[in-house]
Amino acid sequence: MTSTASAPTRDLYRPGLHYTPAKNWMNDPNGLVFHQGVYHLFYQHNPFGTDWGNMSWGHATSTDLHTWTEQPVAIPCDDDEAVFSGSAVVDERNTSGLGNGSAAPMVAVYTSAYAKESSRPGVQAQSLAYSLDEGRTWTKYAGNPVLDRGSSDFRDPKVFWYDGPAGAYWVMAAVEAAEQRVLLHKSADLIHWEYLSDFAADGPPDSVWECPDLFELPIDGDAARTVWVLIVSVNPGGVAGGSGTRYFLGSFDGVRFTEESARPSAAPAGEPPLRGSWLDWGRDYYAAVSFDGLAQRRVMMGWMNNWDYAAATPTGVWRSAMSLPREITVRTANGHSRLVQTPIVPPAASSTASDEVLGADSGSGRRAVLATTAPGKVHRARISASAAAAATFGLRIGGPGTGGARLIVDPAAGEIRLDRRDSGRVDFHEHFPSIERAPLEAGERIDLEVYIDACSLEVFVQGGLATITDLVFPHGPDTEIEFFADPSVVLSTVEVAVLG
Ligand code: FRU
Repeated sequence: MTSTASAPTRDLYRPGLHYTPAKNWMNDPNGLVFHQGVYHLFYQHNPFGTDWGNMSWGHATSTDLHTWTEQPVAIPCDDDEAVFSGSAVVDERNTSGLGNGSAAPMVAVYTSAYAKESSRPGVQAQSLAYSLDEGRTWTKYAGNPVLDRGSSDFRDPKVFWYDGPAGAYWVMAAVEAAEQRVLLHKSADLIHWEYLSDFAADGPPDSVWECPDLFELPIDGDAARTVWVLIVSVNPGGVAGGSGTRYFLGSFDGVRFTEESARPSAAPAGEPPLRGSWLDWGRDYYAAVSFDGLAQRRVMMGWMNNWDYAAATPTGVWRSAMSLPREITVRTANGHSRLVQTPIVPPAASSTASDEVLGADSGSGRRAVLATTAPGKVHRARISASAAAAATFGLRIGGPGTGGARLIVDPAAGEIRLDRRDSGRVDFHEHFPSIERAPLEAGERIDLEVYIDACSLEVFVQGGLATITDLVFPHGPDTEIEFFADPSVVLSTVEVAVLG
């Protein structure tokens, strides 16, 4: 049968796996919560345009973290307030009294950014909205706001249920953004909040702190030894310029977070010291927060963009994608306890080991196109290699005959670089062309895993000890994934998979 319908057109930069709203603007992930087999992703959303504004909570759901279904706007802005970032919990014990006897309320704790013409002009305070139908419909709490310091920069509440030596209660981490402080409060009912403590650290003076998160993780999988992780997004002042996400490691006693390195006797005898760092070394991983409700697992998602140029990215009717979901664990490596990030992706539909580049080298190094991408297709490249100090290897991701984005492993420099200056469309903003650098704590072998999905590259170095997330906007649909290596590089794996 001959069809007269034209082939469906996909927009060039629409990812296959990373979440994007069908239309309009998106920024931070909000209210990540897992309940009754469903992952809820709420997010900062402008329902009316592709620029930031009319901030409301958009909503998408998934049962596997791979496929997302967009839902109606969950919590809209109104004349009084914009609905800024925050978190969601399921109040199983109905501590808030917002339940109806049969359903545990899903409670969103968000920042009311009050309009100039409202009763609290310019104030940012914390408010509640609740849902009695698994996140489908929402009601703003009549007694909002529930926590108001009269501040114009108090925002981004992340709430969790603390149950430890100090008692059992809700804890909220939120920022005084311009003062670069995380404030902790506690509550028995999500409605009445009492100040606990605050946390600050060095940073550039013009930066703001945003979107904190605080959670506990076992060290090397041993539940008897745990560490608390405090996440803070900073803008500007990110490691690669503009927006970036930091983490601190330490302890939380139910009142105060103490960074481990700040203690006189950092780690108990025989224990490796803890170390905080950057959660990602790229330009485009911001406002990352974790899911509530996953018991022992900790899964985070970030906004794949940067406030430096987010308003100018050339994606058409939608703007911004979320990162892949990443499971976070703590592993001891090179004498330090470090965060490890493992992407959660569907199994490969097909994969090809590249024998031609694994074979003996002619003396001038190796170069081979491993795959060519097509819109909607998601590729994963895996490379394991060891390289003498002076040798480099990596990937070029770009159209035939173009420079492309270049990922270069450079053991002599102790770093891995992602150079996107010639990656395609880069001229939409002066701050977009850039080179990112992640430290390479090279052992014998270097392992890379790279996810290539339309407009983004996510690089996991050494099994997730470091990551680099960058947007790229190739000129055309046929982007080559090309491998290159200096002569002395010893390869054990070069493989490309298409993820199904
Ligand atoms: C972070 C942020 C938050 C704020 C939200 C507004 O990207 O600036 O601090 O709540 O975006 O959209």
